Amino acid sequence: MIFVACWHIVELLTQPQSDFDFGVPIANFPSSKSSSSDPWEDFSSIFRRGQQPLPQTWADVFGPLRKGTVDDLVIVGQIGQSLDGRIATESGHSKYINGPAGLLHLHRLRALVDVVVVGVGTALADDPQLTVRGVAGPQPSRVVIDPKGRLGADARIFADNGVRRLLITAQGTRCAPPPGVEIVALPAAEGCIAPSAILSALAGYGMRRILIEGGANTVSRFLAAGCLDRLHVMVAPIILGAGGPGLILPPLERADQAQRMPIRVHKIEDDVLFDCDLSDQRVALGIAKKST
Ligand SMILES: NC(=O)c1ccc[n+]([C@@H]2O[C@H](COP(=O)([O-])OP(=O)(O)OC[C@H]3O[C@@H](n4cnc5c(N)ncnc54)[C@H](OP(=O)(O)O)[C@@H]3O)[C@@H](O)[C@H]2O)c1
Repeated sequence: MIFVACWHIVELLTQPQSDFDFGVPIANFPSSKSSSSDPWEDFSSIFRRGQQPLPQTWADVFGPLRKGTVDDLVIVGQIGQSLDGRIATESGHSKYINGPAGLLHLHRLRALVDVVVVGVGTALADDPQLTVRGVAGPQPSRVVIDPKGRLGADARIFADNGVRRLLITAQGTRCAPPPGVEIVALPAAEGCIAPSAILSALAGYGMRRILIEGGANTVSRFLAAGCLDRLHVMVAPIILGAGGPGLILPPLERADQAQRMPIRVHKIEDDVLFDCDLSDQRVALGIAKKST
């Protein structure tokens, strides 16, 4: 038992260069990687098969992502922020706002979805890989929303690791991603591509579970358009003082006009996950069933 735990820690410490460095052992949130008796691997395959009840360990946190409630899509936004609501420092640095267990949670989310979507701001600032490395699981497809074609061909999001890679841009924009990256050109009004059009395009590729991973600008657009089923806000017990704000939405006159929604709260080591149920405000996208 002790040997197995040590082995997992060694594995985490010897990950190849990555977006996230899991340098600290995980204590009270289950974690393990790549063995036939890996509880997470079992969980994720049962989750995808969709018939059996989910094992209890992760059922509360990931169960709501298994099946769509409004249509066949399940769209989850995520944001990791400080106690004072910042997702990055003033210079745009955001590694690592959340602790190791919060980061493992993000990799688990990636392992359960069909596709991970980021805005070009994140791709430029962080050059993320958006792969599953901290846990066992299938690699999701990767999408960047880049309406003006600002992202260079050497961005790691475009790297070929056998998964589908899409560049969503505005119609009429010239883009030059590397070979193998598919360009999806959609109509834009004043620079904004309707999130519902992005989701319909992804659904057309058979992508059903969709993670909108950031940044704040992108997640806020999907939220404002009623295009999220759930929002995972992972709050880290740190105060950044200044820097990139979390959600950015139109101002309200009064506090009692604030959006309220059912939530589930999970303590994930030092971080606190607010799992917000937005299904009441989710627009129906009328997608035909394409379940995996
Ligand atoms: N803590 C976290 O959870 C987390 C996660 C991810 C990123 N980050 C941090 O967040 C920062 C980047 O976030 P950000 O909010 O500045 O940028 P972002 O959301 O990554 O990207 C925003 C840009 O993407 C394009 N875009 C996204 N949705 C669009 C739509 N529907 N239609 C048209 N264009 C769309 C636009 O590009 P154009 O500007 O070209 O029009 C937009 O300005 C970085 O500092 C990064 O480190 C933090």
